[in-house]
Amino acid sequence: MGIDTKARAFATFSDADELSALLAQRATATPLLVLGGGSNILFTKDYDGLVLKNEMKGINIVKEDANHVYIQSGAGESWHGFVQHCLQRNLAGVENLSLIPGNVGASPMQNIGAYGVEIKDVFEELEAYHIHDKKIHTFSVNDCQFGYRESVFKRQYRDQFIILNVTYRLNKTPRFNTSYGAIEQELQHMGIQELSIQAVSQAVINIRRSKLPDPNEIGNAGSFFKNPSIPAGQYAQLQQSFPGIVGYTNADGSVKLAAGWLIEQCGWKGVRRGDAGCHARQALVLVNYGHATGKEIYDLSEDILQSVKAKFGVELEREVNIV
Ligand code: EPU
Repeated sequence: MGIDTKARAFATFSDADELSALLAQRATATPLLVLGGGSNILFTKDYDGLVLKNEMKGINIVKEDANHVYIQSGAGESWHGFVQHCLQRNLAGVENLSLIPGNVGASPMQNIGAYGVEIKDVFEELEAYHIHDKKIHTFSVNDCQFGYRESVFKRQYRDQFIILNVTYRLNKTPRFNTSYGAIEQELQHMGIQELSIQAVSQAVINIRRSKLPDPNEIGNAGSFFKNPSIPAGQYAQLQQSFPGIVGYTNADGSVKLAAGWLIEQCGWKGVRRGDAGCHARQALVLVNYGHATGKEIYDLSEDILQSVKAKFGVELEREVNIV
């Protein structure tokens, strides 16, 4: 988010031994924060502890069968770099996840998703270092308990494991997923005759660039809030008062609301308060136009949350990690 913040101590690690040595030097009372790419975090104050940045690199094929290639990537590789690696080798499955900021290690942490695909769809396994028993554990897809922007690492194992590497299962033959409205439209606009993973990736990149600000230019953390799910009955009631409300039915019958729509209806889209703002093209994204403090961004998010609650009776949950 481009926030100016200081930590008491900062170090990087590029393999498990370095990580282990750094942890051994730390006094147990010192708070610990592990950073990936730092793209989904908002610091509201200086950090009085040790920040470790994961810089574990390397992308390697570990296994292959008739239909799949299994690729292991260091957690410190950039996510989009990994996607490009797959595209260059004609390996399918992550093209819809093009241009998502952040690093590979964060992808299972919050089951990153976009345009109809989530990381759980291509996840094979990961290795993570346990801070207390100092051993490396392997997690299968079931162990991770993936949900919408959720995993075991954000819940019961929070702050206990440090993800070292992730293995993904890529398809040799693509199974295109272009059902997310805007993709079909963009592919047509691009004049694509024959579908390819490269074309789908480019369509996703075009859509993202048209809506989402580039964090290298304007500080932001992508969606600041999650899209909230509500019971079908409550959705039916809301539809009566707000016929334009945008919602998608989940497998369990509950309805996922477009939080961007709710926020826009409350009049926040494009609002700027000092250097903190609600993005003009996607209300779910909060931005730092230059020198906003983390506290200013947080306060804006709190006011947005309160006004959505007052107008729709729906409680938004922040998707960004607040420190
Ligand atoms: N909408 C509005 N106003 C807005 C924004 C959205 O009315 O300002 C409505 C529109 O009706 C639109 C619908 O919301 O059709 C959905 O919008 P969009 O396709 O932009 O997706 P989203 O639900 O707002 C989610 C993810 C994004 C992901 C896109 C595409 C979450 C929290 N966000 O946004 O993920 O890129 O879908 O799949 O689930 C992220 O997690 O950081 C992120 C950017």
